[in-house]
Amino acid sequence: MQLFLDTTDTAELKALAAGGLVDGVTTNPTLIAKSGRPMLEVIAEICAIVEGPVSAEVAAVQTEAMLAEGRRLAAVASNVVVKVPLTSEGLAAVQVFAQEGIATNVTLCFSAVQALMAAKAGATYISPFIGRLDDYGSDGVSLIHDIRTIYDNYGFDTEILSASIRTVEHVKAVAIAGSDCATLPPAVFKALFKHPLTEKGLEQFMSDWAKTGQSIL
Ligand code: G3P
Repeated sequence: MQLFLDTTDTAELKALAAGGLVDGVTTNPTLIAKSGRPMLEVIAEICAIVEGPVSAEVAAVQTEAMLAEGRRLAAVASNVVVKVPLTSEGLAAVQVFAQEGIATNVTLCFSAVQALMAAKAGATYISPFIGRLDDYGSDGVSLIHDIRTIYDNYGFDTEILSASIRTVEHVKAVAIAGSDCATLPPAVFKALFKHPLTEKGLEQFMSDWAKTGQSIL
């Protein structure tokens, strides 16, 4: 499963990407606003930090305007993926982007039939928001299972990019459900490495090794 970071914090991204396990980045208008920086500047910087796909979201809601904005975003770097909201206007734009060879990430997906429509439109990625579904009282992870079943039933190439991830448990659950990718807040990404028994065990190994008085080098 590919792991993306859901962030515009380029300093933290650079530090985490150095570990070699960050496969890409997703952003959205809220994260861009949080950065306090010009969008094209922060997207260009992110694209220079990671080689993998970097999702940059259009702000327009009408098809023609989405197409103009998406083409501008795609021109920023070769690894830009144009993020488009899951609306009829958005999916009309996705079909044109697919013909033009521009990768797309269809976002704000909350149902399996929405995901079916995005795949029919030729989306490169679909972003089901599982945390927001949980917040809404639904079962976000079950949506990933449903989309996986539908995509496998019909051989759709669209990749499931589980989003709105809140916990390590979410990451485990969407991986079990067969999600192709997940995009995580940096705090959740960092938590993936952690377990109290690992820390305890390492402490014990180091203590016992110190008693040997030996050195490997
Ligand atoms: O950026 C897409 C998605 O991961 C945002 O989800 O619920 O954390 O705003 P949320």
